[in-house]
Amino acid sequence: MHGGAGSGRYREEDPRFAGLVGAVEAGLAAMKKGSGTDGAVAAVGSMEDSGLFNCGRGACLTAEGRVELDAAVMSGDGLAGAGVGNVTSTHRPVALARWVMDNTEHVLLVGERTRDYVKLARLEVEELTPSEASAARFEAISKEARHRGALRLVRRFKTGDTVGAVAVGSDGVPAAAVSTGGRWMKLPGRVGDSAILGAGLFADSKLGAACATGTGEDIIRVGLCMRACEYMEAGTAQRAAARSIDRISRVRGRGNAGIITVDLKGRVGAAFNTEAMGRAWFDEVKGRVVATVGPDR
Ligand code: GLY
Repeated sequence: MHGGAGSGRYREEDPRFAGLVGAVEAGLAAMKKGSGTDGAVAAVGSMEDSGLFNCGRGACLTAEGRVELDAAVMSGDGLAGAGVGNVTSTHRPVALARWVMDNTEHVLLVGERTRDYVKLARLEVEELTPSEASAARFEAISKEARHRGALRLVRRFKTGDTVGAVAVGSDGVPAAAVSTGGRWMKLPGRVGDSAILGAGLFADSKLGAACATGTGEDIIRVGLCMRACEYMEAGTAQRAAARSIDRISRVRGRGNAGIITVDLKGRVGAAFNTEAMGRAWFDEVKGRVVATVGPDR
């Protein structure tokens, strides 16, 4: 599980630390009865509920001060998967993406009409409003600065603390899920990597799974998660994560991305070119969930 690259380091006392550990535990509980996909979706859903991360209840805001959410889910079994973008009527877009994956032929649904499927997915139809923290941050960006236009302003908020999970079920099938508010001051209507298979996430039964965080425009350009999965053909999950981040750093510069990976044996990897990336995983040797934020493992 990752809690996003880019917000800088935070300490163990920070509620996000417990949020990460709790999310992995929620995922593991779901996997006792279900698949890796169930686990990844439950873990990400826990982050969406928490309001602590840039997703669900804690999402960042567009240049108009609105919440527009992106999310996706993918199972390595037959490359099944789907994404949703610009979702405004549930704080649980990852569950909506799961519904699209399980019930339609499509891999991407976006915009106001995603509301039509929220009820079908047995989710509550909500009018999403900014969290107190997001509203305060939005106000802190001066009216004048806002006036200079989101086109320029968005560059100041390079990375966005998207959340995501990768897992391998007891059936050996890898899965990934991701959810985000996108980027601060993004243009209304913008869709980022987190809705797009191959970019913000990827899972392939022959390779493993990967999930990204960072500047969506750069992650899409290099097809980061598909690339990381392909690197697992010839290397470990850790090596594949590092290679994919080296690649995006070379092509698009540093300070823009992080990734988590899992191979078919359940070995995990993580890499990022930002100052920090919160992440947590089940450590088999320690027999418990561990979390870290800095470059150490
Ligand atoms: N990685 C999140 C976004 O750019 O939308």
